[in-house]
Amino acid sequence: MSGSIIVAIDGSAASGKGTLAKRIAAHFDFAYLDSGSLYRAIGVAVLRKSGDPTNEAQAVSAAKNLDITQFTPEDLRTEAAGVAASQVAAIPAVRAAILQFQRDFAHTPPHGKKGAVLDGRDIGTVVCPHAPAKIFVSASLDVRVARRIKELRAKGELVIEARVRADLEARDVRDSSRAVAPMKPAEDAWQLDTSALDADQVFDLSKNFVAEKIAKAAV
Ligand code: DC
Repeated sequence: MSGSIIVAIDGSAASGKGTLAKRIAAHFDFAYLDSGSLYRAIGVAVLRKSGDPTNEAQAVSAAKNLDITQFTPEDLRTEAAGVAASQVAAIPAVRAAILQFQRDFAHTPPHGKKGAVLDGRDIGTVVCPHAPAKIFVSASLDVRVARRIKELRAKGELVIEARVRADLEARDVRDSSRAVAPMKPAEDAWQLDTSALDADQVFDLSKNFVAEKIAKAAV
């Protein structure tokens, strides 16, 4: 065990968990790890070699040789990267290859920070099952489609709504039905449906929840 305070934020694609996790980390001055970006980088690494993200040997090799400095945020935030991430993430050996890195980050956060916020799909269930504060963020498919379209348009990407919807639906099914570490709320996670909330409301509710958990953990 470490003295680090761990906040686990899981949830579906485009649920708003990334925005929330970043704000929680900034508020409490904790380190932040977007675990999805690791899977995205592995997926993009396979695509860069004209490979197939569902091919186990290719995906595992990319995971074991992962050099995150080779990717800009723009490389990782495309829809294609998200789909490839979801594909490599369904391969158990890929997950195993990056498990320890995530745990080390949580238990020994960089820059001497006193805590870490990790977001993903299995942080509360597999990566950090003993985290004192766990939030599972969800939102209806319609709301997530609208949010993702807004995000893509802001980046100047050409958006086809039916395509965004189909991609999100396919990722939901793949992420929640895989055999290893499927997306699901931990038993002790606080489940937050953000469909009718804006980002500030989500942050305020979550900040209070995390502050209470930190206070309890310190007793
Ligand atoms: O959070 P995101 O949309 O950037 O994640 C991209 C994909 O990576 C997601 O569809 C599933 C996978 N993922 C995962 O399986 N486990 C995590 N902890 C984080 C992401």
